[in-house]
Amino acid sequence: MGIEPPFHPSLWWRDVVFGAGERRCWMPAPDCVDILPSQVAGLDIADLLRWTLASGNCSGNGHMDVEGSIANELFGGGFTTITESFRWAINLLAASPDVQERARRELAEVCGDRPLRLTDRSNIPYNEAVHLEIFRYSSLTALGLPHSTMEDTTLRGYFIPKGTTIFSNYFAHHYNPQYFPDPDSFKPDRFLTADGKLDTDKAQLVVPFGVGKRRCVGENLARQELSLFVGRLLQQFEIHEDPCNPVNIRDVLPGLNRGPIQTPLIFNKIVL
Ligand code: HEM
Repeated sequence: MGIEPPFHPSLWWRDVVFGAGERRCWMPAPDCVDILPSQVAGLDIADLLRWTLASGNCSGNGHMDVEGSIANELFGGGFTTITESFRWAINLLAASPDVQERARRELAEVCGDRPLRLTDRSNIPYNEAVHLEIFRYSSLTALGLPHSTMEDTTLRGYFIPKGTTIFSNYFAHHYNPQYFPDPDSFKPDRFLTADGKLDTDKAQLVVPFGVGKRRCVGENLARQELSLFVGRLLQQFEIHEDPCNPVNIRDVLPGLNRGPIQTPLIFNKIVL
């Protein structure tokens, strides 16, 4: 216990859940990776979930088995991240009726009466800009996951000894006015070019899933899920804040992630 620096106290639970030391399961050692294919042969994702639920997470020595580790990574990594991103999305949309209306208009132009499909994504630049701004503004995984230097390293003049725990401050990057002017405002337009196309260079500056080879394995799934969830919701409902409980997009719930504040919202069904 205790490799995490004190500035992010909410990470204490990781050692309890995943074990501590060099074989901690959320950073598998290379020999773990080698045996993965044979260990999981024949199992599908539902088997892994059933196995996890039935057997508990850890074996007696505190090290998780390979299947447990994989199931935990996928289900642990894929549940709250998606639900909390979705909550951020509906809060931000409720707080921005103009954004909502413009996104809905674009969906109507492209899809007509049919539900949004993933193949529509290249034709809905404003909606894509909204999703990027949701990821940037929420910066859900503010510090990503901890990594560690494998050798003595010098980065921009800073010496970092081997074995140092490293966090990437994605929040600071997403709120850097050099890249995102007026960062405290929710402005999907920042991701559009003057002629209304998606600015792909700007889009690449949004990195909610991390960077490098240990970036989130669920990234594509998560982007597609958010796109469909938000798009189909906008096609069917107007989302309003409750006048008695105004939506709060400034503060966050404490925890590993920047959890959105929950307030009651009003969903009005759109009748076509
Ligand atoms: C909006 C949703 C999501 C966000 C914001 C998110 C964010 C992240 C971040 C920041 C990391 C750490 C990357 C790094 O250390 O550099 C990560 C790792 C990971 N994520 Fe996600 N994630 C999301 C959804 C998912 C989903 C849906 C899954 C599974 C289906 C998933 C599985 C994982 C796994 C297994 C890792 C560890 C990868 C590794 O250590 O090599 N995530 N995620």
